Amino acid sequence: MTMREKLALLARRAAESEQGGGEARVAAQHAKGKLSARERIDLLLDEGSFAETDRFVTHRSADFGLDQQKVYGDGVVTGHGYIGGRLVYVFSQDFTVLGGSLSETVAAKICKVMDLAVRNGAPVVGLNDSGGARIQEGVASLGGYADIFLRNTLASGVVPQISAILGPCAGGAVYSPAITDFVFMVRGTSYMFVTGPNVVKTVTHEDVTMEALGGADTHAGTSGVAHFACDSEPECLQKIRDLFRYIPQNNLADPPRGAGTDPRSRRDEELLDIVPDHASKPYDMHEVIRRVVDDGTFFEIHAAYAPNLICGFAHLGGHAVGVVANQPAILAGVLDINASVKGARFVRFCDAFNIPLVTFEDVPGFLPGVAQEHGGIIRHGAKLLYAYCEATVPKLTVITRKAYGGAYDVMSSKHIRGDLNLAWPTAEIAVMGPRGAVEILFRKEIAEAGDPAAALDQRVREYAEKFANPYVAAARGFVDDIIDPRDTRPRLIGGLDALASKRDANPKKKHGNIPL
Ligand code: HXC
Repeated sequence: MTMREKLALLARRAAESEQGGGEARVAAQHAKGKLSARERIDLLLDEGSFAETDRFVTHRSADFGLDQQKVYGDGVVTGHGYIGGRLVYVFSQDFTVLGGSLSETVAAKICKVMDLAVRNGAPVVGLNDSGGARIQEGVASLGGYADIFLRNTLASGVVPQISAILGPCAGGAVYSPAITDFVFMVRGTSYMFVTGPNVVKTVTHEDVTMEALGGADTHAGTSGVAHFACDSEPECLQKIRDLFRYIPQNNLADPPRGAGTDPRSRRDEELLDIVPDHASKPYDMHEVIRRVVDDGTFFEIHAAYAPNLICGFAHLGGHAVGVVANQPAILAGVLDINASVKGARFVRFCDAFNIPLVTFEDVPGFLPGVAQEHGGIIRHGAKLLYAYCEATVPKLTVITRKAYGGAYDVMSSKHIRGDLNLAWPTAEIAVMGPRGAVEILFRKEIAEAGDPAAALDQRVREYAEKFANPYVAAARGFVDDIIDPRDTRPRLIGGLDALASKRDANPKKKHGNIPL
């Protein structure tokens, strides 16, 4: 063969590889509202930046007629490219090839890009759309999954790992995304479950649709498995690109700086009146966050899950930060099981990837109740406490109102290595709220008083004056300063500047034993 003939062969095979399972199957994808594996990559990455690997890989199986169904590249498209000019490794499962099922060779392709990502210190994005283990390959396929799970685990905390679920993701296959840092789903076209509706019906006699069992809203709002539920694939892929504005390439790199023009010294007049005079009146902590961060841009994570605790990314004076904030507008901002688990995982991500933590605190405590106690609020609440304790990134805290009880300790207090702890004059730092405290301390006196209601009010006033303020904590140095709320932004930015060279470490150990 001449060089020209060889090039023609290469072009033919490349074209075959690009076709995946063929036009009809791509059309079927489109008819379901789904994009092809390559279309997804094109939307995810900077234009023209994709460099493919392993496009001529084929599976090696001949069983059940598989030798007649060889497609160049097999059921996944892999390679690297750039997001906002930053290197990222990507795999995109191709549902048009045997349902995107995972063969031994598909697994090997995925493992190859994961290994490259770790070696080169770059994030991995996995676009999942697969019928699961390739049934014809049996244990070889199962082994392939295990190879991926191992790599997910070893890469955890080394490079960011992001999963988008863009079709089926069922059975044990769910555990790869589950180990990754962020899971994105699309309403109506993606679902995740360990066992599908048919098995559920057989075992528990429950009737449930795919969407209700494992669709995007279910996982983003109820199970917490997904961090984002999107309306379309293009929106989902754009959201992944947006996430890259805040996360670093790896655990040894700094997060990207923001490019905003918001003045660092900007004061915000509205913050003066944002906390209502009455201690139990709600307000929206989103409003506080937006008024403080650069350009009011807040990238919220897990917005629909445990909304009593807000987690997300922002820039402050150009510094990328992870924001954790109690939300007084929902359940009074109480910490419950779901909020604790959500917050703990977010804090640990930020700590693993050098993203300073900014905590806005207004928390009445942990949620009382039989369901919470029996559900293990002790064990789950301990996760958030543990995560904050072990975090060595800069930790800045602003107490806007309540910091009661154990939740005061947990929410990045000075005692657990908070670096800069500020309080607004409205802060109340105490073992519990005035009313609860007085009812315990003065129960007898109030019951015996001629006018119990007036006696209670009097004691509540006394208690509030003595304890429900930030000065007792400030007198001990447990808060570093009491500030004018309008100065919150410049004070936090000043703190972040000063903490940019922070060095802190935990005792040497194999790993801790977070209460899982
Ligand atoms: C081989 C598969 C396949 C699989 C689908 N296909 N799943 N081939 N192994 N796991 C093939 C189909 O035969 C079909 O080929 C093509 O892909 C498209 O599938 P359809 O069924 O036509 O598509 P759709 O109607 O959209 O249904 C999608 C689906 C369904 C819901 C995913 O295909 C399905 O239920 N597949 C099996 C799912 C499953 O049980 N997987 C194993 C899970 S256990 P043709 O040639 O007809 O177009 C597992 C263990 C992991 O994954 C272990 C890790 C620990």
